[in-house]
Amino acid sequence: MRTEKIRIAFFDAKDYDIDSFQNTLPGWQAAHPDAPGMEFAFFETRLKPDTLELARGAKVVCIFVNDIVDGEIASALHDMGVELLALRCAGYNNVDIEACYGKIHVVRVPAYSPYAVAEHAMALLMTSIRRIHKAYIRTRDFNFSLSGMTGFDFHGKTVGIVGTGKIGVCFMNICRGFGMNVLAYDKFPSQQLIDGGTEYVPLEEIWRRSDIISFHCPLTDETRHMVNEESIAMMKKGVVLVNTSRGALVDSEALLSGIKNRQVGAACLDVYEEESDFFFHDFSGHIVEDDTLARLISMPNVIVTSHQAFLTEEALGNIAETTLDNTAEFFAFGTCANELCYRCGRLETCPRTHENKCF
Ligand code: NAI
Repeated sequence: MRTEKIRIAFFDAKDYDIDSFQNTLPGWQAAHPDAPGMEFAFFETRLKPDTLELARGAKVVCIFVNDIVDGEIASALHDMGVELLALRCAGYNNVDIEACYGKIHVVRVPAYSPYAVAEHAMALLMTSIRRIHKAYIRTRDFNFSLSGMTGFDFHGKTVGIVGTGKIGVCFMNICRGFGMNVLAYDKFPSQQLIDGGTEYVPLEEIWRRSDIISFHCPLTDETRHMVNEESIAMMKKGVVLVNTSRGALVDSEALLSGIKNRQVGAACLDVYEEESDFFFHDFSGHIVEDDTLARLISMPNVIVTSHQAFLTEEALGNIAETTLDNTAEFFAFGTCANELCYRCGRLETCPRTHENKCF
């Protein structure tokens, strides 16, 4: 058994990450007395070519959604002796899994709280349509006028859900609770959902029939800019778009045009294509250079949160627990159930066992 502590270098670490990992570790170690000891080094900076030297001495590098790992960074980490890249998120579009193959193992947290994200999607939707954000500001200024505050009932509306995995299903259940009609699209429809009465339709039908469309699929070459000029033109006039998945599912310029020409009635965005330059940081005293983001935020019918859908106590605790589990499992067996496997090409459902390691 390994006696020295495993050093984990955290990049893009925020106060809530530090708290959740530090608070989780003692209980986790007590529950896993045979697991190797772990020590943490937290860095606020992102993992970049000019910061990766901070990882020296670590066996594990733990990153978040906007830390980009390409072939160059993977090779540099490998040369430094880093064995494991632990994503403290579910999505992995920021990591070149192919380039990591043979150099550094990549694990993720496939599910930490689908409820957190689905509930945030509904919170954005309700805030936007019932103008809660505006009411909050008005009543604080003792302005009790209701002018311009008219929303619409969700009951009886059709919601299109793109991606019916863990988060999509939670969101679907919330919408059904509101009495909405649900249409679903997924590249891999779920037989269980079909048996339960879910109506899967082609993507074009989602565009044509939905009053509200919410995105819960991963960002891939196939889904990049699935919301574009052409798809927006197919949508119902006044459609409401909710994106809590990944920013680049939406062509932001096309969205802006759709909002300007009134084709899109409202947009609720927890993610943005170029978010890595801005999100998670305070730019309140600065001029934001991204004109598209600035214009979107200035629109009365656009509401933006800064990739915060995951941010609940439960989700943070689960992220910390699973990351510690992944690390211990990897150092015990050389692989881990949550490893992203390039070799077998089945990233989501890798059939490997501990005896059949990736590399
Ligand atoms: P999941 O893996 O359970 O579900 C994803 C679904 O998308 C699957 O059913 C899959 O078959 C489907 N899919 C794959 N390719 C598709 C395509 N080309 N078109 C349509 N559907 C496709 O993932 P989960 O946990 O539900 O997360 C969904 C996404 O939410 C993640 O990929 C991530 O990008 C995003 N996310 C955002 C968070 C936030 O804080 N805003 C937090 C966690 C996840």
